[in-house]
Amino acid sequence: MHIIKLNAIDSTNSFLRQLSTEESVDDFTVVVTDHQTKGRGQMGTEWDSQNATNLMFSVFKEVSNLSIGSHFYLSMAVSLAVFEALKSFQITNLKIKWPNDILSEQQKLCGILIENVIKQNQLQSSIIGIGINVNQIVFKNLPNATSMKLVSGIDFVKEEVLEQVLKQMKHYFSLLESKSYGILKQAYETELFRMNRPSTFKDQYNTLFTGYIKGVSDSGHLKVLVEDDIIKLFELKEVQLLY
Ligand code: BTN
Repeated sequence: MHIIKLNAIDSTNSFLRQLSTEESVDDFTVVVTDHQTKGRGQMGTEWDSQNATNLMFSVFKEVSNLSIGSHFYLSMAVSLAVFEALKSFQITNLKIKWPNDILSEQQKLCGILIENVIKQNQLQSSIIGIGINVNQIVFKNLPNATSMKLVSGIDFVKEEVLEQVLKQMKHYFSLLESKSYGILKQAYETELFRMNRPSTFKDQYNTLFTGYIKGVSDSGHLKVLVEDDIIKLFELKEVQLLY
C-alpha cells in the first residue's frame, strides 16, 4: 500500500483523480492531508474541516470486476469499514445514514464521497474520499455534526484512526471481490439509521412525508414504505431523510 502525505491540497479526491489521469496509480494508493482548501462533499457541497484536527483522505481503488449496476456495494463496503473502525475505538451508538454518512449519537461524524471513473460503460476505478471528524469540538453552523472527541471526551491519534479504517477497508474489499453481496447488504441494512422506524423525509419539491425505511435496492436506491403499503425507491437527489 502506498500512502502519500500532503501538508495541504485543494481536495484529496481531486488530487487523486488528476494523478490517475497523468500516470498509472497503484490499487489502494492513499492520499492524506492536514488541510484542504476546497474539500468537496456529496452533491456539489463543500466539506469544511478544521485544519489538522480531523482526518481527510482518499483511496484509489481499482474496481474493474464490479459491474456498474453493483457500484453501490462499494459504497456499502466503505461505510461498513468506517463503521467497524469507529466501533473499535468504542465510539457509541453508531449508525449508517443512507447512503453513506456515519452517525454517532444521531449526529454526523463522517462523510464519504465516492467518485467513479467509468470508461466504455465499464467501471474502472473509484476514488473514495473520507472525512472523519476526529478531535474538532466546535462546529459553526453545522448543528448536526459531531466528532470522536465530542462523543467520547477522548483525544485520538489521527494516524491510528486511519490505520484502522484502512485495515477494515481491506477486509470489506475482499468481501466485494468475492462478490459476497448478500453479506454486505445484510450488514449494511442492520446498521442503517431509522431502518423500519417511522421517519420524516423531504422530497425534491420540499414536501414533507413520512414512511418506513425498508432497506436499499442493489443499485443503491432507498426503499421507503409509504401510504397504502407502497414501497417507493428514491435516488439521493430525490429525497432527504430528516434527522
Ligand atoms: C459528504 O458527506 O458530503 C462527503 C464528504 C467527503 C469529504 C472527504 S474529505 C477527503 C476527501 N476529499 C474531498 O474533497 N472530499 C472527501
